[in-house]
Amino acid sequence: MQNKQSIHGAWANRWIFILAATGSAVGLGNIWKFPYIAGENGGGAFVLVYLFCILLVGVPIMMAEVLVGRRGRQSPINSMREVAYEAGHHGRWAGVGWMGALAGFFIFSFYSVVAGWVLYYIAGMGSGKFVDIGSEEAGQMFGALLEDPETLLIWHSLFVVLVMMVIAGGVNKGLERATRVLMPLLFVLLFVLLAYSINSGYFAEGWDFLFHFEPEALTWNAVLVALGHAFFTLSLGMGSIMAYGSYMGKRDSIGGTVLAIAGLDTLVALIAGLAIFPIVFGNQLDPGAGPGLMFITLPVAFSQMAGGQVFGFLFFLMVGFAAWTSAISLMEPGAAWLVETLGLSRTKASILLGVLVWLLGLLALGSFNVTSDFLIFGMTAFDFLDFLTANIMLPLGGFFVAVFVGWYLTREMSEDELALRSSLIYQLWRVVIRYVSPVAVAVIFALNLYQKLVG
Ligand code: PFF
Repeated sequence: MQNKQSIHGAWANRWIFILAATGSAVGLGNIWKFPYIAGENGGGAFVLVYLFCILLVGVPIMMAEVLVGRRGRQSPINSMREVAYEAGHHGRWAGVGWMGALAGFFIFSFYSVVAGWVLYYIAGMGSGKFVDIGSEEAGQMFGALLEDPETLLIWHSLFVVLVMMVIAGGVNKGLERATRVLMPLLFVLLFVLLAYSINSGYFAEGWDFLFHFEPEALTWNAVLVALGHAFFTLSLGMGSIMAYGSYMGKRDSIGGTVLAIAGLDTLVALIAGLAIFPIVFGNQLDPGAGPGLMFITLPVAFSQMAGGQVFGFLFFLMVGFAAWTSAISLMEPGAAWLVETLGLSRTKASILLGVLVWLLGLLALGSFNVTSDFLIFGMTAFDFLDFLTANIMLPLGGFFVAVFVGWYLTREMSEDELALRSSLIYQLWRVVIRYVSPVAVAVIFALNLYQKLVG
């Protein structure tokens, strides 16, 4: 067993790693994206496929990413290269790390715009802007925000600065400290909101919508969206989890840890759905409202409920925390690489990356107003960046990690690093990572592209 350490530091213990990786996984994907894409794709039918994708593709690939990170003990780009050398292969495997860093950069740019909306809503809820509004008004208020580049710019910039501050602090004084404070708060808020929603009187409708499986509601498109979302929500395919894995303790079990992370991530998505849909149904709102679901329907609902202002404020605060801990992990692979390879300080690395993502974010931000006419393949920059990353770059990154770990690493390397208790489980994982995950990703990926480009 190798005993290398990362130059960037190490998590204090296994639980901190679980919480930090869960912080990466739980984000806008769970609370903003999951409910609205489940709503758009028929609820229960989508949820079931999504759970399959998490288990059959997400969990094995997450194990592979953590394995490579801990083996290489460096940024994803350098770890991929090191581990490829160790296995006797070409250093061009670092290219997977490069694509990941680029994907992280792209995701960050639109992620931080949506996170900016969240910050605006925290302030709005706190100051009573959304008291006593109807759905039409709420729609108008959200629309007006999107059309106001200056306001968007302020909140987008603030979010980038918040992330830069944590990245500049490094693994222990930045990432770990943020994790210790934000994650427990996030869970407390989530349960407070769940209790609130259970009391709303429409819990059964929400439950039914998410878990009532209607096979006829299942479409190919739902399968495609579910797979892409499994990658997005687990932060896979771009190196975030690989980077976090490089700070993990040598003796901690990768299998159990990854199951905990994926389990918590799924739990939060389902609880977010269970917190949101009862409120939606309670107010006769449309579950398939799309990206505006959280920003239009919820403020209406909160404005009409007892204590709604306080809970609305807490809700958006929770979403803000979730977005923050995820965005940190989007920047970490690039920051670690800059420190390792160019010898920059953490502060310089975070400023450099912060300025870059801020600039690209301007394009995503302008998609709703000044640059709304600027289309790429018929999509605004915002939609294109989302499509390109979730539907192409992340599945592709995950595919290559699976192929690399399944076919190119020696059996001794993966067996030693995973140190699974039973050889049967190792065998099972190996079959899945060699055959099931890559084939599933390749098939769905190809269909996805075909549908988008031709269909
Ligand atoms: N997993 C995050 C979410 O669900 O919001 C988003 C994300 C973070 C995606 C980090 C990819 C990533 F590498």
